[in-house]
Amino acid sequence: MPTPQMQAVQAVFELRFGYAPLLVRAPGRVNLIGEHTDYNGGFVLPAAVDKEISFAVGLNGGSQIRLVAHDLGDETVELASAADISPGPVPWANYLLGVANEFQWRGVAVPGFDCVLAGTVPMGAGMSSSAAVECGLAFALNELLHTGFDRLELARIAQLAEQTYAGVQCGIMDQFASLFGRAGQVVRLDCRSLDYQYFPFDTAACRLVLVNSGVKHSLASTAYNTRRQECERGVAVLRLHYPDVTTLRDATLARLAAVRAELDDTVYRRCAFIVQENARVEAACRHLEAGNLAAFGQQMYASHAGLRDDYAVSCAELDALVAAARGLPGVLGARMMGGGFGGCTINLVVPEQVEAFITSVSEAFEQQFGRRPETYQTTIVEGVGAISN
Ligand code: GLA
Repeated sequence: MPTPQMQAVQAVFELRFGYAPLLVRAPGRVNLIGEHTDYNGGFVLPAAVDKEISFAVGLNGGSQIRLVAHDLGDETVELASAADISPGPVPWANYLLGVANEFQWRGVAVPGFDCVLAGTVPMGAGMSSSAAVECGLAFALNELLHTGFDRLELARIAQLAEQTYAGVQCGIMDQFASLFGRAGQVVRLDCRSLDYQYFPFDTAACRLVLVNSGVKHSLASTAYNTRRQECERGVAVLRLHYPDVTTLRDATLARLAAVRAELDDTVYRRCAFIVQENARVEAACRHLEAGNLAAFGQQMYASHAGLRDDYAVSCAELDALVAAARGLPGVLGARMMGGGFGGCTINLVVPEQVEAFITSVSEAFEQQFGRRPETYQTTIVEGVGAISN
């Protein structure tokens, strides 16, 4: 059954364009642990969640591209043809145009198409609304044009769209999670080999509660790209001594210690964080397999401390949310999630304590910052797919 949101985009599409679209849903994601490791060839542990973007997409038989954001009062962007695709002034449209551009780079002549979209993934919350937008259109065009790209190639297309049309030098985690998500499972991705493994995660037994700091750092994409460069500087120094090092995945704390005199302190701390964060993902997965969510949660707290102190991508609001969560009854773990500089914390909370948790954390936050944060209880869903209308 299409969701009300899906029915709405379908209705807008049919009214505007007068033919039947393909309907596609594309979820946002959470990441349990493994932050900023993806572009360093490391490990991540995301899942697709029940906050999604709904798409109605169709080929219009001409050359025109017509894009409609139903959430934004049906704001419309029109292009005469795919020949003159380039990043424009409308941010949401750029994610879509970036995807069409990637298809063209792969030798696909993109004909005229229409797209109406709407979403429940909160924007700027670290839940990858942009990846969901990219992945949904990539999936839809692949179906409509019969291009035969597999899901991994679609993830790459979506990642490159983000890099080239939104200017964020992101890794592949978000797009991978949106496309490869499985209901009731988290996925550990090795971002170097792209091997992946699913682990059951029962959100009925342990809830995933997100608390939105409401902070959107205007320089977040610049700071993100700076972190990436700092890691690359670390790799360049390590390579002088250890030629096998191609990414920080090949670094160890011992190797970093050996070259420490040649690294500036900031770069050292960034690199040490990545090495430790990769180890935490591996430990967390062992705890998950053993059913030890308390130990899993401890890895999340340690991840937050590293993101705050060494990788320096947290902010006062996120730190306060994690501090408020820690020690509350039934809270097993908490940390900031995603790129950072704002967005959500992710909290593991036993079901009986969820209401009390939300009340305590919201009150503590309101006292300090004068407003109540939004909270979301998420469940883990299947990745991008078409739905029948
Ligand atoms: C953003 C990026 C991802 C990843 C995270 C941090 O979500 O898009 O590729 O780097 O930040 O883990």
